[in-house]
Amino acid sequence: MRIGVLFGGRSGEHEVSLASAAAVVHHLDLSHYEPVPILIGKDGRWSQPERPPTVVQASELIEHARLRAAGTVRNHQDGIPGRPRINEPSAMVQELALDVVFPVLHGPYGEDGTVQGLLEMIDMPYVGAGVLASAVGMDKAVMKQLFAANNLPQVDYRIIRQSDWTSTPDAICKMIASELGFPVFVKPANLGSSVGISKVTSAKNLKAAMAYAAEFDRKVVVEQAVPNAREIECAVLGYNQLEASIPGEVVPSREFYDYEAKYVDEGSLLRIPAPLDTELTDKVQHLAVTAFRAIDGSGMARVDFLLNDETKELFVSEVNTIPGFTTVSMYPKLWEASGVAYVELLNRLIQLALEKHAAKKLLRTSFP
Ligand SMILES: Nc1ncnc2c1ncn2[C@@H]1O[C@H](COP(=O)(O)OP(=O)(O)O)[C@@H](O)[C@H]1O
Ligand SMILES: [Mg+2]
Repeated sequence: MRIGVLFGGRSGEHEVSLASAAAVVHHLDLSHYEPVPILIGKDGRWSQPERPPTVVQASELIEHARLRAAGTVRNHQDGIPGRPRINEPSAMVQELALDVVFPVLHGPYGEDGTVQGLLEMIDMPYVGAGVLASAVGMDKAVMKQLFAANNLPQVDYRIIRQSDWTSTPDAICKMIASELGFPVFVKPANLGSSVGISKVTSAKNLKAAMAYAAEFDRKVVVEQAVPNAREIECAVLGYNQLEASIPGEVVPSREFYDYEAKYVDEGSLLRIPAPLDTELTDKVQHLAVTAFRAIDGSGMARVDFLLNDETKELFVSEVNTIPGFTTVSMYPKLWEASGVAYVELLNRLIQLALEKHAAKKLLRTSFP
């Protein structure tokens, strides 16, 4: 089977995607699969790289991008020599005669349902969440509303539209101070990798944080900070039958798990399994599956939680439909610890993609 590995992308998480895709390409079982890497440039152009992406840490790629942005390195396409082929992505995917596409794209224009829509249009089986779950998983505001509808425990939050912010900033600041209090986290609704996120500890920093988040999206989510927060993550795999992995824990190297802590500074620690008692472990796994269903997920997702370490209150934070996929990333490591090695995980995800595609084919499309 020819597996198209789609990577790069028009998002701030371009470099992270290169690192994830390299690991996927290098772990596909070559006795069954032929990897076909497809690079999406930051400009949105699709091309077939001459060589597959190499396994490097996301931090190296990010450093490289930084140097390039500073003008130190020139004419170097993300470290991968690109040969632009066909500008029209759907024609390209069809011409390559792929059997399954694995989108290893993080963030907007990749994890948000746009690429999934293109693959649906050309009837191409693909790994992971469909259009709806991808879009919901990328929109923290809609995701929270679906969590609420499914009675999932979450922190108190408000959704603020950019236009309201622009017209009545003072009233909004007042409302946040009185209804949520401090500290709060301020986040753009549609983003990932902690981009645009600030922790605000007092009223005087709220305006700057709001304005910053509003630069990234037209909706801003403001939520109460969980005190003594521990970050618990659980991997979900499946289509009709869902399985939850053993939970893991991230111990960020910085005040919170921001972009630097995630990809640049490698001091963050993963604890697998997360040191939790049996009751909390069961709760995490149960809530992970419920959250996955709430957004209508399929294939895979990593469900993230915040645990108040003092009161042991557990809050669902978000679902990531294309989690990091490097060999040191949480999603594959959680499965490895749960008895599914990386190579086998890829097999399972490809099988699930085919299963979903076949099931959809059986649905009636006409009636007498
Ligand atoms: N309500 C909160 N309480 C405590 N920490 C938070 C809260 N919201 C976010 N954080 C911190 O910010 C990080 C990024 O927030 P998150 O909502 O996961 O955004 P992203 O989609 O960018 O990962 C989290 O991993 C956590 O460290
Ligand atoms: Mg997160």
